[in-house]
Amino acid sequence: MALRSVIQGCGACLPAQVLDNVELAERHGLDTTDTWIRERSGITRRHMAGPGESATSLGAEAARRALAQAGATADEVDCIIVATATPDNAFPATAVHIQRELGMTRGFGFDVSAACTGFIFALSIADSMLRSGQARSALVIGTEVYSRILDWTDRGTCVLFGDGAGAVFLRAVEGSERGILSSHLHSDGRQAGILYVEGTDGPLRMAGREVFKHAVTKLAAVVDEALAANGLDRSAVDWLVPHQANIRIIEAMGRKLDLPPERVVVTVDQHANTSAASVPLALSVAVGDGRIRQGDLVLLEAIGGGLTWGATLLRF
Ligand code: ACO
Repeated sequence: MALRSVIQGCGACLPAQVLDNVELAERHGLDTTDTWIRERSGITRRHMAGPGESATSLGAEAARRALAQAGATADEVDCIIVATATPDNAFPATAVHIQRELGMTRGFGFDVSAACTGFIFALSIADSMLRSGQARSALVIGTEVYSRILDWTDRGTCVLFGDGAGAVFLRAVEGSERGILSSHLHSDGRQAGILYVEGTDGPLRMAGREVFKHAVTKLAAVVDEALAANGLDRSAVDWLVPHQANIRIIEAMGRKLDLPPERVVVTVDQHANTSAASVPLALSVAVGDGRIRQGDLVLLEAIGGGLTWGATLLRF
């Protein structure tokens, strides 16, 4: 019987420090307003990592919470895949730091770099490994501290991002109705110059309007691709869990799928854009508050630097 990768638990971790738009502008002396940020992006506040917080510490805590929700222990994890653009070190990978933090003495871990689409890429790799039998369980984590790679004098970018982590724990289950149905990945290196990090330490540079135009068309296409691959109509989707970059892009995707706003998970107002952490963070919020339930059809999508973009369709 065929194996399916089934999400057993979700977890999230946000830094303790929260800054609203006014506090952020005051702290960095930015020529901006709460109204501009809210109207253009939907963001009202974001969490910011403090001195003791890192991609490893946030990701490890999100992973612990995902395991706790699944009723599993670190001994049961075969593989850790971390999506991050802000690792603690170039190497070792954040995944092996998290492996140590969880007290794991077996299995393997590695990082994936696909900017804001990183979690979708990591989930797709985990799904392939679980279905091929290379691993029986996996932690997939998105964790970011973008506050460390932003240009705090560039009001066009620094107001849009936040720090945080989200994680899911998956197991390979035989003959399950639940689980990942398919993932669809894309990149286009010709667009590398519209959203990138200078060198390895930053700062981040973005041509926001250009990215916006690509986002709406590419996300719409990949969502159609995911539905068509499974012979499903858009009316079958129970929940859209989109990358949380901008409320206007999220609303456009909801309209495209004919989903009422209450079926679209939105956290960008509270967390801003947490890049590879944004999809698992939003998923964790909607599972935690009881909106997303077992058996629901869930569509994940994201776009980010590369450009990279992708979607995953799953039965939760
Ligand atoms: N406060 C006040 N004014 C500002 C600010 C600010 N924080 N930032 C820019 N402005 C000004 C600009 O200088 C410009 O002024 P001008 O007209 O006098 O030149 C004006 O506001 C309009 O600027 P635009 O950049 O054209 O504004 P736009 O409506 O496009 O909104 C935004 C900008 C929010 C960045 C939007 O383009 C966007 O969300 N883009 C997509 C970002 C995205 O999806 N990223 C996803 C991936 S992120 C990743 O992978 C890391």
